Amino acid sequence: MTLERITIAIEDELLAGFEELLERRSLGNRSEAIRDLIRRRLVEDDVENDEGEAIASLTLLYDHEQRELAERLVEAGHAHRARVLSTLHVHLDHRLCLEVQVLQGEAAELRTYADHLIALRGVKHGKLVLSSTEI
Ligand code: NI
Repeated sequence: MTLERITIAIEDELLAGFEELLERRSLGNRSEAIRDLIRRRLVEDDVENDEGEAIASLTLLYDHEQRELAERLVEAGHAHRARVLSTLHVHLDHRLCLEVQVLQGEAAELRTYADHLIALRGVKHGKLVLSSTEI
């Protein structure tokens, strides 16, 4: 196995927060910690690689002053034809919004929809929790 060197661009505040976390939790060096994050994401996607109907909650923390973000969030909902059963929205401060969407649909579609939203500029944090009605 060979190690590839990559260069990534990251906001200084985000990097400082990450390094503080590594220190506090003794998580080793940056490269190892980033490899762990990637592995964890690959495992999550594999475990959740199920077919069929799912329900999910999607939590988003975003800056509503980010240009065009509100429109992009709405457009994504229409583009993916996401079945949003319910939405909770809390204005946390003058910029930040917390939104929780309860979703229903094919697990793979819900993941694609969530990935799309979480990747939008201005979305600070996002997490999809998939569940099944057949448990
Ligand atoms: Ni708000």
